Formats: sequence, C-alpha cells, structure tokens
Amino acid sequence: MKPASLLTINKHFIMSMNPTNEFANDVLDGLTSKPKFLQSKYFYDDEGSKLFQQIMRMPEYYLTDCELEIITSKKKEIIDVVSNGKKIELIELGAGDGLKTTELISHLINQKVDFSYIPIDISATAINELKKMLLEKFPNLHFNGKTGDYFYMLDQLQKGQTTQKLILFLGSNIGNMTLEQSIRFLKKLGHTLQTNDYVLIGFDLKKDKNIILNAYNDPAGITAAFNMNLLQRINDALDADFNLSNFKHIENYNTKSGTASSFLVSLCKQKVQLKKLNLSIEFETDEPIHTEISQKYDWQMIEQMADQSGFQIVRNLTDKRQYFTDSIWKLK
Ligand code: AVJ
Repeated sequence: MKPASLLTINKHFIMSMNPTNEFANDVLDGLTSKPKFLQSKYFYDDEGSKLFQQIMRMPEYYLTDCELEIITSKKKEIIDVVSNGKKIELIELGAGDGLKTTELISHLINQKVDFSYIPIDISATAINELKKMLLEKFPNLHFNGKTGDYFYMLDQLQKGQTTQKLILFLGSNIGNMTLEQSIRFLKKLGHTLQTNDYVLIGFDLKKDKNIILNAYNDPAGITAAFNMNLLQRINDALDADFNLSNFKHIENYNTKSGTASSFLVSLCKQKVQLKKLNLSIEFETDEPIHTEISQKYDWQMIEQMADQSGFQIVRNLTDKRQYFTDSIWKLK
C-alpha cells in the first residue's frame, strides 16, 4: 500500500474512533511527515507542566529571571503607561505560575487601582491552582479566570464593554511560533482590542549562542526530559512503544535567524508501533523529530512584527543585561 493511502485510512480510523482526538491526528500528521515533527503545545500535560516549572527555576534558563527583573523594576512605568488611574482589566494569555503577575498585582493593589485579573488558559487545573495561590495572597482580588481558547475568550470579554485592557503575553511564549504564525496571531489579537487597550509581550532577544544553547540543553538534563516526555505521552495516550533510551535530545541555534530548535534524534535504525493509530513508524539512525522552535528577536524584527500586525510600539522595557524585552504595544 502507498504511504498516502495508508495515511488516509489511518485518518478515517482515528476519526471513527473519536472525532475530537486532535492529539492523535496531529501525532499522525507529524510522524508521517518528512522531516518528522511534533507540535510543542503537546509538551504541557501534567508531567510536562511540572518539568517546565523546573526549567523556569534552572539557573541556565535566564528568561524567567530577566522578565521578573523587568516587571519588578518597571512595574510603576508599566501601570502608569496603561492605566493612569483608570479602571483596567489585566488579562493574561496562559496562566503561567503567576510569579511575575504577582508583582504587577501587588503594585496595582498598593496603588489602589481598580482592576480585575483575568487569566485565560486551556488548562482548568492551571487556572484553579493560580486562583488558590493568588487569593491566599490577595483575598480581595477580583479573580476571573477563564478556561478555553484565547480568541474565543477575548471575544466574549469584548462584548458590550469598554473597560481598558492590558493583555499580558509573557515569557517569550510567542517564540514557539514562526514569524508568519506570530503575525497572524497578533493580527487576530488586534481584532479583539479597542484603541485604548494595550498588550505587553515578552520577547527573548538574540544573544551569545552559548548562553542560548545552555538554556535549552542544560547539563542536568531537565530540558531533555521535557522533550522526552512527549514520547512518553504518545506511549501512554496512543499505546505506542517508543523506547526513550533510543532517542536523544539535541538543541540547535541559528545565530543569523535567531531560531533555537529542539529535536529528538533516533540513536539507531528502529521501528515504533502506535497501536491506537494502527501505525508503524520507521526511523533511520540520526533521524530527527523536530519538536520546538524558540525564536530569539532583534529590535528590527520586533518593530516589523508590530508594524505588520497593526500595532505601534509604546515602550520597550529591558533587563540590565539586555537579554529580554517586555514590549508594550497599542493599535496603530
Ligand atoms: C514556554 C515557549 C517560552 O521556548 O523558551 C523551555 C519552552 N522549551 N525550554 C521556551 C521551553 C524548552 C519555552 N516557552
């Protein structure tokens, strides 16, 4: 049977099994593509989220420290720009662990700004944990967490109201998208906003190659475990037999484009069965599965991105080392 027809049969097979099994479909697409890939959004099951929390605490993962430094030292500036005394809605895309947002929230409370905090995340668990943590610290906080798709939720929030918004998209989460995808995403985000709303986006800046490679290929192997967990997730969810010790995590950084890429590389020629997909996948020695990009930016890229997606830059805030920026934008 030709590969194409095999693919079609598998697709029908999956759809008949469970019409909403997006994960199964995406794994099938990725592993039958050439070159093979898996989508980085699937890193974040319970185990993957725990591993990412550990990554954020690693000394090599400078991104978290830099952004915390920016928000801690520039919170007054941020709030002065976006609120100047008026009521605001602080909306966060992705619940994160709330560490950086806690800084902003405590500042808003101290300044007696009238605001509500609205994190949006696909994980209900993440929202609930954040809620528990924040309400313990700030019992009077107007916490209004939403579970679901970012754009659907933003559209809902927009309906019939005019409260000024500050949308947070922190951590260089945008870096998991290609430049093209980012522009599409930002245009769509812009359509949910009004002229007096602001977005604050975290961008990891281009810098020395070794600093970046260390952040994504730590000696303790936490990032490797984070990548490898994706194969474990496939084993568990799709009854597959990936032998994790037959793969290795590899990180690559292209200095010119600023793209860091993660791969799981096959250490031998091997065959993997995915029983629930009725699928067998072959790997050559050294064959990679691409799992993630983490884009790094320069100022020109950020300016172009804002411009092409219909925004203007209001302010760029950076840490002392200029490793990272939180860029405040509004509609053009
Ligand atoms: C959560 C997407 C910002 O790309 O830096 C960390 C994820 N991957 N280490 C990043 C990640 C490997 C992270 N983001």
